[in-house]
Amino acid sequence: MSHAPTRGIDHFGLTVANLDDAVRDLGDALGAGLCYVEGPLDEPYPGWMTEKLGARGAFTLRVAAVNARAVNLELFEYAGDGPRRPGPLPGQAGGFALLQRTPDPTAAARELARVAAVRPAHAPGGFEVLLPSGIALALQPGKDELLGALFVHRGDVAPFVHELQSVLGLRRTGGVDAFGARGVVLAGECGAAVAVLDAPGAGPRPANSDVGGHHVAFHADDVDAARAALLEAGGFVPLGEPETITDGPIAGDRWNYVLSPTGVQLELINLPDGTLPYEDGAAHTRTPIARRVPA
Ligand SMILES: [Fe+2]
Repeated sequence: MSHAPTRGIDHFGLTVANLDDAVRDLGDALGAGLCYVEGPLDEPYPGWMTEKLGARGAFTLRVAAVNARAVNLELFEYAGDGPRRPGPLPGQAGGFALLQRTPDPTAAARELARVAAVRPAHAPGGFEVLLPSGIALALQPGKDELLGALFVHRGDVAPFVHELQSVLGLRRTGGVDAFGARGVVLAGECGAAVAVLDAPGAGPRPANSDVGGHHVAFHADDVDAARAALLEAGGFVPLGEPETITDGPIAGDRWNYVLSPTGVQLELINLPDGTLPYEDGAAHTRTPIARRVPA
């Protein structure tokens, strides 16, 4: 039995330039269904987005959740006067991409070439896709699976993988090669799998408000206990105190962002699927953490 404070990956969060374009792209490319849209949201008090979300400046925020191939994705669009820089590209440290494994990448690439820029990948049989909204996608041969892929600076890969294994309870399930970088795939007791790839580049990881900013959210049965466990492990830096959302589509959600010791933005979350207001009449719903067990 696992003693990790979390049970696995609940969702990947990604900041995009335009929320509507990103939702459309993920629908076109991956058949993703829109679960809910929230906002525009203003800061409840000045500095809240910096303190709680790791944004760099004051913004209004729109959030959408989509479900793609049983993986939950959260999309952020920041608007306002704050500085929004483009984050590193996939293959560069600080970058993020989606990785789709499919038995026939060539057929998937042919379909995607109608709407996106597609090129053969360095890894045999694979393709690299840039969707019009700026989301990067690697297509690779394999059993159907969608993963989030984080590109981490060389010196940080081993300690980050160690943090994911020893503190957050993920286990290594295989290797990966995408956007010219190599790495490992890790997954928890349940939830999605993540690829961590060793990439060049020494720049800072993007802020959550930067296009390309991203986070990996871990389900915790008890967010406060998980937060305490990470503090005890050392090096993890929570962004403020946990909050429980009291209205809107995901009322009941308790969450807290945490910077890992290697600077990767994580989230502890307890999103009580099955009781969320948006689910009433929704065409698409999130995949509850316990119902998606990695192969
Ligand atoms: Fe999130």
